Amino acid sequence: MSGVNLAVLGATGVVGSEILNVLENSSIPINSIKMLSSARSAGKKVTFKGKEYTVIETTPKEFEGVDIVLASAGASTSKMYVDDIVKAGAVLVDNSSAFRMEKDVPLVIAGANDEDLKMHHGVVANPNCSTSQLMLVLKPLHEYAKIKRLVVSTYQAVSGAGKAAMDELRAHTEAEIKGESFETKAFVKPIAFNLIPQIDVFCDNGYTKEEMKVVNETKKILHLAENTPITCTAVRVPVFVSHSEAVTVEFEKPLDVAKTREILEKAYGVIVMDDIENKVYPTPTFTAGKDPVYVGRIRKDLAFDNAISMFVVADNLRIGAALNTVRIAEKLVEMKLVRNA
Ligand code: A2P
Repeated sequence: MSGVNLAVLGATGVVGSEILNVLENSSIPINSIKMLSSARSAGKKVTFKGKEYTVIETTPKEFEGVDIVLASAGASTSKMYVDDIVKAGAVLVDNSSAFRMEKDVPLVIAGANDEDLKMHHGVVANPNCSTSQLMLVLKPLHEYAKIKRLVVSTYQAVSGAGKAAMDELRAHTEAEIKGESFETKAFVKPIAFNLIPQIDVFCDNGYTKEEMKVVNETKKILHLAENTPITCTAVRVPVFVSHSEAVTVEFEKPLDVAKTREILEKAYGVIVMDDIENKVYPTPTFTAGKDPVYVGRIRKDLAFDNAISMFVVADNLRIGAALNTVRIAEKLVEMKLVRNA
């Protein structure tokens, strides 16, 4: 036997299917792969690398002999099976928010903080989608000039809220155009021809959970001091795929536009798309289905002394979820941090 034994937990979901797509071209030497779901989808067929697999209902014994579990089945499912997975000697690469802020769980963006993988105890967490795309941009800038303050406003696609949300945007838009009434179900407010300044529930401080994920996860991934001033406003917009972010970042050391561009042009996973004279900058429909994080509108910020403002756009299902999950698994294998690597 050679290669690692994988299980995809939530193989029938939106992100699970994308994980399988990304895995098709992955460098991981795969010995075996198991497709796991709830009882609802058990027995369904899933195709991977031209071969048909029968989806299996998840039970603890399914993790025996598995080396890496790629999970995107929700926080409660991950919590339910984490002990079985770790007991089986596998590493859980988890897409949910279940373990992200736990001290002994590395929160990793491959290419940004791979070294943190070395302290894993059987669980590695994949950051929230809005944090993920931001990290590949901020990490190299932080290494050069040290982040002092960060202001982020997000414009988030509906696919971040799942398939039902995508279906509702389509149906509601069609209804509006025909002048028909429509009952909002998947969102707290109507989404068609609108935007919603609430993603997830509100916390005691008046911020939403989604906004606080950006604040807290950024500090954890970049190893920033707990009192680093970071603020975020997260807004749901009527876009199917790709999150956009208006980012203003103030630095300790001098950093001008030219140097910012130079650093980002060399950065892993980032493409600078910034030529305003020719109206070149990233937009969500352009980045959908693509792997890199795109950065444009790079300019000296007018509100802070030594700060840069920019517009960061990326496919939330790729770098924000499936792509980073698979990249983490690749790193675990490369760094020999899993069995059979
Ligand atoms: P199922 O297809 O059986 O519902 P999405 O976020 O797109 O809704 O997908 C969620 C994924 O997580 C699906 O593959 C779903 O399987 C799976 N899932 C949900 N609950 C469980 C559970 N309790 N055990 C295992 N898989 C689950």
